[in-house]
Amino acid sequence: MASFPPLKNDLILRTARGETTDRTPVWMMRQAGRYLPEYRAVREEHSFFEVVETPELAAEVTIQPVERLPVDAAILFCDIMVVPEAMGLTVKMVSGQGPTFPQPLTTPEEMERLVEPDVDAALGHVFEALAVTRTELNGRVPLIGFAGAPWTLMAYMVEGGGSKSYRAARRWLYRHPEASKALLQRTTDVIVEYLIGQVEAGAQMLQVFDSWAGLHSPDTFCTFCLPYLEEIAARVKNAHPDVPLVVFAKGVHHALEALADTDYDIISLDWTMAPDTARDAVADRAVLQGNLDPCALYAPPEVLRREVHHMLAGFGPHQHIANLGHGMLPDHDPEHARVFVEAVHEHSEHMRTV
Ligand code: CP3
Repeated sequence: MASFPPLKNDLILRTARGETTDRTPVWMMRQAGRYLPEYRAVREEHSFFEVVETPELAAEVTIQPVERLPVDAAILFCDIMVVPEAMGLTVKMVSGQGPTFPQPLTTPEEMERLVEPDVDAALGHVFEALAVTRTELNGRVPLIGFAGAPWTLMAYMVEGGGSKSYRAARRWLYRHPEASKALLQRTTDVIVEYLIGQVEAGAQMLQVFDSWAGLHSPDTFCTFCLPYLEEIAARVKNAHPDVPLVVFAKGVHHALEALADTDYDIISLDWTMAPDTARDAVADRAVLQGNLDPCALYAPPEVLRREVHHMLAGFGPHQHIANLGHGMLPDHDPEHARVFVEAVHEHSEHMRTV
């Protein structure tokens, strides 16, 4: 593995390992993105995938929120859709609509169009972006890598794009359960290799995004999500036992205990879950991350500060990484992102002195 400048701020890694710290670490999902004018300026010159595929641009955009805000981690600028793309599907980023697949997998026979990718060749630009970013961060904060979870990627691959209920993808689960499992397993194998490659390129923590896990019944979650999430953590941990793993299974209230039994160190919660209920479910088996409603950032600063205090009080001073319950939104005011981050600094230090 390459060597990089030593870390000046390892707060998030120490919290991830379960150590007590003198402040709660904080970062925001989608902290690099359209709410930042400096990001929009880059996007005026370059398409989304140009930024993703050019390591220097990806590094620049990854570091933008770190330059502006006192966050305790950077997350690589990339997208979960690079995995289906590496598996042979065409992905287009449509403005105002998000990622779309002009030719989704409408039947199991169409899985023949998928390839078993050479991960280094297909995703080498991501590894290079991680290495460039790690060097340019110069040890300011740890760098987080990520991947989409198998089910969330399948939802897009079958549906062809964003959707409220992913009816086409969920229809597959009932009509073609065996083909669904085959697709999820093939995706799992690529994700494992991709995440291990990210660590070897410079990622210091990894997050698996199962953004559409909440569309499942408890039974279909246990059949089509959990085993693949479990397998990813077990195989990545086997290769790199010291790299903290985060799972974000959005909307999954019913499976917190099951997630705590996996090899993920950190469970990321959306805002619909109460901190104390989550803590009761996982006990001390995982660090919790989250979970302020991203819409709280629309509130006036005093209200936002109160919401942050309330959240921190709910989680308590230890085994918690402060974050939003989902990503930053394009019309958020960057100054409110500052209020959020600074309120975590202030109140979490205060909590430890009283
Ligand atoms: O700052 C970061 O968090 C790192 C970058 C990041 C992006 N996408 C950049 C992005 C991360 C971690 C993702 C993950 C991702 N992508 C997820 C999982 C997290 C989640 O939000 O649930 C999902 C479901 C996607 C798929 C995706 N990509 C969608 C739905 C969209 C459209 C979103 C929208 O608001 O329009 C994207 C595009 C995308 N990915 C943008 C960014 C900054 C906006 C693209 C642009 O610049 O026009």
